[in-house]
Amino acid sequence: MAGAVPKLKLGSQGLVVSAQGLGCMGMSANYGPPKPEPDMIKLIHHAIESGVTFLDTSDFYGPHTNEILVGKALKGGLRDKVQIATKFGIQGNYGKVEVCGDPAYVRSSCEASLKRLDIDYIDLYYIHRIDTRVPIKVTMGELKKLVEEGKVKYVGLSEASASTIRLAHAVHPITAVQNEWSLWSRDIEDEIVPTCRELGIGIIPYSPIGRGFLAAGPKVAENLIDGDIRKTNPRFQNVEHNKTVFERVNEMATRKECTAAQLSLAWVHHQGTDVVPIPGTTKFENLDQNIGALSVKLTSEELAELESFASSDAVKGERNGFMQLTWIHYETPSLSSWISE
Ligand code: ATR
Repeated sequence: MAGAVPKLKLGSQGLVVSAQGLGCMGMSANYGPPKPEPDMIKLIHHAIESGVTFLDTSDFYGPHTNEILVGKALKGGLRDKVQIATKFGIQGNYGKVEVCGDPAYVRSSCEASLKRLDIDYIDLYYIHRIDTRVPIKVTMGELKKLVEEGKVKYVGLSEASASTIRLAHAVHPITAVQNEWSLWSRDIEDEIVPTCRELGIGIIPYSPIGRGFLAAGPKVAENLIDGDIRKTNPRFQNVEHNKTVFERVNEMATRKECTAAQLSLAWVHHQGTDVVPIPGTTKFENLDQNIGALSVKLTSEELAELESFASSDAVKGERNGFMQLTWIHYETPSLSSWISE
């Protein structure tokens, strides 16, 4: 499988990553109990050997334990073979979460992440969520200093509004914006995607297979255990309604001789060469399958057919309603009135 994953240039500042990344969150947090560390280290090694070198983590995952896991996986000379993306800006747990963009917090978070990952620099450092109390130019000012000091190579934003992206980009070039983007979560196409394209910013879709729902449908929802954040996700509380989307994708996947996960992921890959999804998995076979999605070719008619399955009336429940309810100082990208400054 080595060499099967092409490389793509992300943004306009020189970052090159594998065309598909690996979301590491579920290995340590949020999707059920943490998975055994030795197995996850082997999985990360398998990803790197297969050409998936763009590893996505955050200090929030665990918290902290996911960065420590990724750091351990890179021991023995693998650091230079990968592009590490991590994030700062969310404190607490899903019960009560506070977003923070204070400059002193930016610096201390970066230094702590470097230690946990046991590396000298972070390839791509995201503001995980935007703090509505702190003007974005203040948060970005500190990130710019970290780039000048060599601790961070490239800067990204996650779940920021179009206006915030513009303001941030004016302080220091933004290389990538990470947002939820999949067949059933397409709101970023209105404003965020055009803004990124205008400014030459790469786009990183998270949850590209709908947190597993577009891969396995109601089965995923039925098997959720306590502590899995999908239990409170509005989309997973409307399974009876939403299962039709999965069934249609699955039926088309049978016709295309691929899996529903591959077809959903292929749709994201077809959105452009500036788009690098980061599907999360904890299983070798699913990782291999997801890499296989890069070989699934879709015509414009097939893309349109897929899109018709997940029309807005076919999908019930906010993609991130749970965040809006429980997160403090959190900028909701679609509500521009929340923007500080
Ligand atoms: P996120 O970005 O939030 O991790 P995602 O990438 O859309 O969300 O989906 C991740 C979920 O899909 C995980 O629960 C993962 O389960 P495993 O850890 O068991 O793999 C599941 N998933 C990922 N790839 C899959 C595949 N090819 N087939 C079935 N399920 C898959």
